[in-house]
Amino acid sequence: APSPALQGRHVLVTAGGTREPLDPVRFLGNRSSGRQGTALAAAVAARGAQVTLVHAHVEQAVLDTLPGTVRVLEAGTAVDMERVVRQEARDADVVVMAAAVADMRPASVSATKLKKSLPQPEDGKPAGLTTVELVENPDILAGLVSDPPRPGQLLVGFAAETGDSHQDALAHGTAKARRKGAHLLAVNVVGESLGFGDVPNAVVVLDHQGHEVTRARGTKAQVAEALVDLVVQCLPAGGR
Ligand code: PMT
Repeated sequence: APSPALQGRHVLVTAGGTREPLDPVRFLGNRSSGRQGTALAAAVAARGAQVTLVHAHVEQAVLDTLPGTVRVLEAGTAVDMERVVRQEARDADVVVMAAAVADMRPASVSATKLKKSLPQPEDGKPAGLTTVELVENPDILAGLVSDPPRPGQLLVGFAAETGDSHQDALAHGTAKARRKGAHLLAVNVVGESLGFGDVPNAVVVLDHQGHEVTRARGTKAQVAEALVDLVVQCLPAGGR
């Protein structure tokens, strides 16, 4: 059912895993399927918000589950996603970053397919596929926090964490919540049957100081509903 607090609001959601090219046929990627971000976009649209989904790699079948009212834009790499998100966030009341954005990308993209081994270049540096030099990608969420494209907008991040124990994984999430500084950070403690892909999810939502706000567990649609409930609570009254 529509939520009065979301009527006329603009919500920007990101989903999927970025793919950082290495050469014309290879990339560095991750296991994000885009299901959690897509479920969020659908849930918030069903409550009456105007939704834009910016996605990196997401299977077409997953995108096909979106209602026609969601505006869909593609951004395949972290650098592309930064550009599109900063542009679109200028008009957003809420930004939810469920995408798994690569922290690093290959320092250079070869115009031709890299070979298993190449003759040693004169500078002695290894070439070919045994050593890949990486450079840091922009941190899109941290940039939205430090330089918000629209004052007063609500910023929500995700973090997929692992650890020796649930406690240990959550501790990584707490440190990240403080470091990133988004209003809310939904920490997924990922495991073999939880988190990435066509599996259920479980999140602990923290505020920017790392304090627990709420927990949600279930299908990705159920987790999305719980997060939208929280967004509704956190939106300042008064609308646009
Ligand atoms: O896609 P699914 O298969 O459904 O799985 C969902 C998910 C587990 C991928 C998703 O729920 C999730 O947790 N996404 C974030 C994954 C992650 O580990 O993010 P991170 O810890 O690298 O980054 C934390 C936050 O900063 C995220 O909101 C991310 O979008 C953002 N970020 C990260 C790096 C970067 N360079 N720029 C960013 O904005």
